[in-house]
Amino acid sequence: MSFLPTYTVFGNPIAHSKSPIIHQLFAQQEGVAIDYSRTLVDANQQAFSKAVNDFFQAGLGANVTLPFKTWAFELVDELSEGARAAGAVNTLIYKDKTLIGDNTDGLGLVRDLRDNCKMDLRDKRVLILGAGGAARGIILPLLNEQVAEITLANRTHEKALQLAQQFSIRAQTFTELSGSYDVIINATSGSVSGSIPNISADLFSGCLLAYDLFYANEDTAFMRFARNAGAKNVADGLGMLVGQAAESYRLWRGFSPDCAPVLTALREKKDN
Ligand code: ATR
Repeated sequence: MSFLPTYTVFGNPIAHSKSPIIHQLFAQQEGVAIDYSRTLVDANQQAFSKAVNDFFQAGLGANVTLPFKTWAFELVDELSEGARAAGAVNTLIYKDKTLIGDNTDGLGLVRDLRDNCKMDLRDKRVLILGAGGAARGIILPLLNEQVAEITLANRTHEKALQLAQQFSIRAQTFTELSGSYDVIINATSGSVSGSIPNISADLFSGCLLAYDLFYANEDTAFMRFARNAGAKNVADGLGMLVGQAAESYRLWRGFSPDCAPVLTALREKKDN
């Protein structure tokens, strides 16, 4: 057992998680030593509950990644407003014998947009593509930035309608979409397999920033499509990953790390 403040990330698979290196760089900034490990858990609910319970005998905080975010949501004693809106938990905090579930993914995105992409979201027209867990997690934090409007579009329109209703935003089909958007966010999981949502290239003509929540070692197909279609700037989701980690770290330790040098270090590493 470690005598250092102990944190982990639960996932399956987890071997390639960048969270340990990110959090060690944050700890260097704070000038402390921490123990941050990866925990591989069998992908069933019971195994996940046991792993969380075992860890928090001594652990102080944990991140949760696929496929456990909705189980974490069900497991905790208390939920933050952000976790409730996202319907998922990516951060566990143990305080006063209470396991609290939060979700920092959306704030991580907002932070990356603001600090690294230099995007002031106020009064911006935002289009979100996709209506799964990733889309759901970013809507409330974007609304909190006083955007002018959010339009949601999804391949399966019914899912976009349901999600849009929950947040009182607009849903349109891919073919209904028209006009221009300042920020277009790809929250579909299509990038994993190199496919892009079937939308018109015209939507990008006035686009200031096209952002893919996915990241890889090279530009994603969505980023290439957006750039060719006239988007002024494109970005992948690596900055969001660092941003969500920074928000988790702040919740655990009350120290708000600087993301930019960590993002630079990760981009230089380039080896997953
Ligand atoms: P996640 O947690 O990553 O959001 P998810 O909840 O399974 O994963 O949701 C995946 C999202 O990506 C859905 O909105 C899905 O669209 P459907 O609801 O129509 O399935 C979207 N998606 C996945 N592949 C896509 C593709 N090739 N083109 C467009 N949308 C795609």
